[in-house]
Amino acid sequence: MKIAVYSAQPYDRRFLDEARLQHGADAVEAAYFSDPLTLDTVPLAQGCAAVCVFVNDQLDAAVLQALYALGVRAVLLRCAGFNNVDLQAGQRLGLFMARVPAYAPEAVAEHALALAMTLNRHTHRAYARVREGNFALDGLLGMTLHGKTVGIVGAGQIGTAAARIFKGLGCTVLVSDPAPSPQLDGLATRVGLDELLAASDIVSLHCPLMEATRHMINAASLARMKPGAMLLNTSRGALIDTAAVIEALKSRQLGALAIDVYEQEASLFFHDHSSDIIADDVFQRLMTFPNVLVTGHQGFFTIEAMREIAAVTFANLACHMHGTPCANLLPVSS
Ligand code: NAI
Repeated sequence: MKIAVYSAQPYDRRFLDEARLQHGADAVEAAYFSDPLTLDTVPLAQGCAAVCVFVNDQLDAAVLQALYALGVRAVLLRCAGFNNVDLQAGQRLGLFMARVPAYAPEAVAEHALALAMTLNRHTHRAYARVREGNFALDGLLGMTLHGKTVGIVGAGQIGTAAARIFKGLGCTVLVSDPAPSPQLDGLATRVGLDELLAASDIVSLHCPLMEATRHMINAASLARMKPGAMLLNTSRGALIDTAAVIEALKSRQLGALAIDVYEQEASLFFHDHSSDIIADDVFQRLMTFPNVLVTGHQGFFTIEAMREIAAVTFANLACHMHGTPCANLLPVSS
């Protein structure tokens, strides 16, 4: 069996090839393409029975239909989020669609902490200053996190790991989640979103992107936040209305922003654009704020998580090939 791996970077190839050999999947041949999956790149999957995709690949009805027409019968997501998949279309076509529901949730939670720590103590600016021989402290003032209140929106696997970390720092942790993880017991206090926004010095988003959560951080919710609070988003870009966030930064209602994800990230992230003219004015406006930190969707990017993603992807494929039950199927849409 041959699989087409889209949006493949050299590191994807390294870990997928390693897992392929470890899992004795010699019968599986992988064709790697750096291109993302779109309607235009569907033909690359010619002769493949499965495609392996990532967060910004396009899996709408037209793409799924075109893949099916080529003979593709399985879609293997090497990520947890599946907001880019038309579940109904996949179901209608009878495609096997599976994901990697958890790959070191701690990796993403630790990245959220790294973002908070960097923004709060301005280590990104201090690093550059010291290398220029500038040891002045002006502009580097932070706050002691011990005793502060951290609000976690979405207390699943990653949110719970984040709650554990911030609790360990001596913070009071609040969570807003319609169905929080039972592992959260004793770590945090469950409150409504409005109460969380009003009380938190740091708000960290860890819920999935769905219609109900799209732009959950908007002009109205930003106005409800504690003035000068910090906002972290390591979940999905569209949880945030970026234009509203820019206005809140300009008015200083929002004190600082760190994002690992961005609503229009598909045209930017995972590629080197250092010699290009970036046409996205919203993104470029964000880059002008000294209190904004952006990383390019690297929250998951640890050795452990990459190994887990590759191993689970091949385990999912084995279920498809052998017709055995798979615990990681995408949910059936209603
Ligand atoms: P999870 O499914 O374990 O937890 C999500 C939680 O959000 C659940 O407890 C759910 O009840 C809650 N939730 C649903 N709707 C909500 C709402 N309206 N308000 C508050 N909470 C709500 O998912 P997990 O593994 O913790 O991942 C969370 C998200 O992190 C993923 O959906 C994905 O978008 C993102 N992610 C980002 C990565 C990165 O590299 N930056 C890597 C992996 C995941």
